[in-house]
Amino acid sequence: MFDSMKSLPADAILGLIAEYRNDRRNNKIDLGVGVYRTADGQTPVLDVVKKAEQKLIDTQTSKAYIGTAGDPRFNSAMQTLVFGAAEDKPRLVTIQAPGGSGSLRVAAGLLLRAQNAAPVWVSDPTWNNHVPLLGGAGLALQPYPYYDTEKHVIRIDALLDTLRSASRGDVVLLHACCHNPSGLDPTPDEFRAIADLIVERELVPLVDMAYQGFATGLDEDAFAIRHLAGRVPEMLVSSSCSKNFGLYRDRVGTLSVLVKDTKTRDIVASQLSNIVRTIYSVPPDHGAAVVSEILHDDELTRDWHVELAAMRNRLREMANLLEQKLKVAAPSRDFSHLARAAGMFCFLGISEAQVTRLKKDYGIYMVGSSRINVAGITADNVDYLAESIAAVL
Ligand code: LMR
Repeated sequence: MFDSMKSLPADAILGLIAEYRNDRRNNKIDLGVGVYRTADGQTPVLDVVKKAEQKLIDTQTSKAYIGTAGDPRFNSAMQTLVFGAAEDKPRLVTIQAPGGSGSLRVAAGLLLRAQNAAPVWVSDPTWNNHVPLLGGAGLALQPYPYYDTEKHVIRIDALLDTLRSASRGDVVLLHACCHNPSGLDPTPDEFRAIADLIVERELVPLVDMAYQGFATGLDEDAFAIRHLAGRVPEMLVSSSCSKNFGLYRDRVGTLSVLVKDTKTRDIVASQLSNIVRTIYSVPPDHGAAVVSEILHDDELTRDWHVELAAMRNRLREMANLLEQKLKVAAPSRDFSHLARAAGMFCFLGISEAQVTRLKKDYGIYMVGSSRINVAGITADNVDYLAESIAAVL
């Protein structure tokens, strides 16, 4: 039965985990998969997560199934985190999902049921897994221009021009903040212009927020979502707790769908429930229960904000530090876009051959597009990193 199958190459991002692990060099550097790292290279469980887990161990009385939509307390706290306290909740359905990817997969199922062949417009470039995940689910994808690889800026005019050609009901996938892979986000005014176009062309936004709190702050990073929610009749929002709560492997996220009225909300909720039941039945609960403990306890919430700010600040410090070091190591090249990026990622702006040389000759790992995760930079490795980059230019 399986004789006709061929093995596939490893995933462009996740494949780097094993490659890096198997590298014996002491000075190797991992700038690959998007996980946060401390100054000594660890991805620890957040202190606030440990505290919430302890509370759960002491108080949780059952591991019986939760429903297809997950825990309503978690969903309500996440809805407020994503949409803000004042949002028009009667028009919103929020379900607990297995991470951002699980949430996107359910979103794809809903879009396929709702609108058959309407394409989803995705930024060029976008997260490596957006196209396989949404395309693999059966959606047709179309690129819209996003990143200028020469000037390292957002191609906002080309982006707007392209979306102007989209048809009524087409879906537009936007990154709420910390655009993956470029790290460059539209300004609030640019987001407003995109929203104007979405309203004018009657497009449906699908917003992916995998890094809330990693750019500027929890509320600021939700600007695009909250602005759009006040303007459009319908939208979908996928939110992940992998990075901002450091719960990567616990798979925690939500899918929220904003609809026109409460009747449609009930219909959409029943469709979501059916889609979930036919994929994974019910979402995993432990990580979501941890997030719920944190968001329902003022002291834990404050502790989380402090830990989140520390992660956000370290990412900016490391991006700035590398940019400073490259100014000295490679003075003829402009790397100023590193300091303009937000969140974990930015492009170095080197060729795939140079990326391969960095891996082979220097033990420095990054995605083939030259996307780097700045969390892998430390005060101890930055000189070696900058000199190695300069050497392959
Ligand atoms: C990344 O982009 O590196 C992360 O979102 C991890 C992943 O699943 O790709």
